[in-house]
Amino acid sequence: MPFLQCIEPSCRVTFETTTRLYTCERCGGLLDVIYDVSVLAAEELKRRWDARLGSKAAADRSGVWRFRELLPEAEPDQIVTMGEGNTQLFDAPRCAEYAGMQRLTFKHLGLNPTGSFKDLGMTTGVTQATRLGAQSVACASTGNTSASMAAYAARAGMKAVIFIPSGQIALGKLSQALDYGATVVQIDGDFDDAMRLVREVTKDSPLYLLNSVNPFRLEGQKSIAFELLQQRDWCVPDRIVVPGGNLGNSSAIAKGLQELLEIGVIDRLPKITIIQANGANPLYQLWQRRQSGEPEPQLLSLKGASTLATAIKIGNPVSWPKSLRGLLASDGLVEQVSEQEIADAKAIIGRDGIGCEPASAVTLAGIKKLVAANSIDPHEDVVAILTGHVLKDPDYVVNYHRGELRYTDKQGEQYLLASNYASQWLHVAAERSAIEAVLPF
Ligand code: F0G
Repeated sequence: MPFLQCIEPSCRVTFETTTRLYTCERCGGLLDVIYDVSVLAAEELKRRWDARLGSKAAADRSGVWRFRELLPEAEPDQIVTMGEGNTQLFDAPRCAEYAGMQRLTFKHLGLNPTGSFKDLGMTTGVTQATRLGAQSVACASTGNTSASMAAYAARAGMKAVIFIPSGQIALGKLSQALDYGATVVQIDGDFDDAMRLVREVTKDSPLYLLNSVNPFRLEGQKSIAFELLQQRDWCVPDRIVVPGGNLGNSSAIAKGLQELLEIGVIDRLPKITIIQANGANPLYQLWQRRQSGEPEPQLLSLKGASTLATAIKIGNPVSWPKSLRGLLASDGLVEQVSEQEIADAKAIIGRDGIGCEPASAVTLAGIKKLVAANSIDPHEDVVAILTGHVLKDPDYVVNYHRGELRYTDKQGEQYLLASNYASQWLHVAAERSAIEAVLPF
């Protein structure tokens, strides 16, 4: 039977998965869900997971529950699924060329039911809420978590309360949460304030907390690693590149990979590479201090995080110890990129016919920077994770392509970003001759 365990080496206390807990009761540390992997056989697991691809049962068709041998227990009628996962791998030749790579693959998690990777964690999070008998759920969010939680809560017949930062959430995401019937609480503060407050509010209330501090969220998100490898016939890439915000996703992917390694489904770990925006870079700063020899640095929270990639505008990421654990186990890397680098990379991802929201584009920007610095070999087999759909933040796209994308940094300085890869947007009289005069071909 799976159980919960505190990740702190000096604690390691365990709890049953039916205990309603978000962090360790004894020391406040983060919790892992632990499985007895010694009873699982790699070949048998791969056979079962492949067989389910042809099944019509809802749990088999879910790109999360297909891998249920490595998920917390749930009765079939407790599983709240919207057929999440099953997202494409895309070969991206223009992006590869832009980054100086021979080839580059994206796994596009923006193709999930609510348009982001959060659905993978919400199916397990809301299923656990059902298992515990919760009738209402809550989260703080930069937008995608709230959109996803609102949808899954609605499917489960639960009430959803979302805490969002004031004026900093992309409209596509806010509209989703409203559409799915959530109660929206806008906080006069940033995401870190919202996160702190939702943790306080849910401590002694019937509201069940569904941020990624909740270990059951990460159990679903780790299926990114499972599905990605299954799609590649278990052939391990050299590197997986992922954006870093609250650091739940990088933690989850690393945990999934570690489990596959322990069972023997894979024989090595891809290097986890996390990219942050340079105005919201607390993990990058920690990594730099570590590289310069500081023993066991702790994450210092960053006041007033700032980036147009609002999904990752986070100064005090909750899951950093798990994320750091994954980086160290896989000989990973952390990089930061500028607003200009993000905006241009996003336009290039669009040019490959793929598209993504701004936060996802830090992956390509980071790969380009790491190739230029000789930290990534151009021949490496790299999979980058696109986390959200292009339609999440249309304002950003339109402003970039009409040359009006403005960024205000932490010091309050405003910059107009260059639209280096703008598509043509022509305005003409309603006449055939006027159109023919401007058409480039
Ligand atoms: N990309 C997108 C599109 C996101 O929405 C987020 C996080 C991230 C990347 C970063 O992932 O937090 O696991 O490191 N969004 C959260 C939210 C914070 O509230 O929707 P992370």
